[in-house]
Amino acid sequence: MVQPSSLPAGAGPIGVFDSGFGGLTVLKNIRTHLPQYDYLFLGDNARAPYGTRSFDVVYQYTLQGVKTLFEKGCHLVILACNTASAKALRTIQQHDLSQLDPYRRVLGIIRPTVEAVGALTRTRHVGLLATPGTVSSQSYDLEICKLHPDIRLSGLACPMWVPLVENFEYDKPGADYFVKDRLDNLFQKDPLIDTLLLGCTHYPFLLPKIERYTPAGVRIITQGEYVARSLEDYLRRHPEMDAKCSRRGSCSFLTTEDADNFNTTACLFLQEKVHAHHIVLEE
Ligand code: DGL
Repeated sequence: MVQPSSLPAGAGPIGVFDSGFGGLTVLKNIRTHLPQYDYLFLGDNARAPYGTRSFDVVYQYTLQGVKTLFEKGCHLVILACNTASAKALRTIQQHDLSQLDPYRRVLGIIRPTVEAVGALTRTRHVGLLATPGTVSSQSYDLEICKLHPDIRLSGLACPMWVPLVENFEYDKPGADYFVKDRLDNLFQKDPLIDTLLLGCTHYPFLLPKIERYTPAGVRIITQGEYVARSLEDYLRRHPEMDAKCSRRGSCSFLTTEDADNFNTTACLFLQEKVHAHHIVLEE
């Protein structure tokens, strides 16, 4: 159970969790769509990347993040991380929530992305670039098969892309090699792809380079906007949860790494001052 003594009474911020900086790309869109709510972002930068870690480790780390956000007063937590959504979401929803607090909710970002893609592709050939963990989990393949069985999905793992972001190399010339290599590979695999899904929330940091090496005419999909719309829809359909989300338009940040480093990147990306607090995640 979440320790009752640490729970603030009443409504709380919407929690947004990621292994590191990637979740900021989702948070930015969510705040643009739904600026009235309070948000608490938690980046587990000290243990990123998650994408090359085992199922059990990603599950344990994600559960620690969710418990922490619950203890900080969040009633609703968005896993703004595909790897965590692929490897931890279902177990947390089906097993842990009933023990932690059956009235709180944890939502992922794979389903809203797949829902959107059906209306975007004309050739019905879609490419997926994601972490090794997300690709090998086949979570996208399963959701595509359920929602759009006529779409052919070609997935490719990009193990170097998240480290480029977490190590502040995403806009340096050295990143070009790794970006071009993966895109060349994907479009050799299936030249009919007309829609490219960036299935990792870190990848929008690399967007200028991804655009440079993607064939002309291919639509590149980042997830933030679709996740934001899906959250808006969720809150509309769940007024009981909506009432538990506080509304002062604030946003706070927690990181498991050095707060100053986090602030520098978060300020640059969000174009506002960020004062993160360091936190240690425990079981
Ligand atoms: N940004 C996360 C995702 O969407 C995790 C990346 C990682 O830590 O490997 O998959």
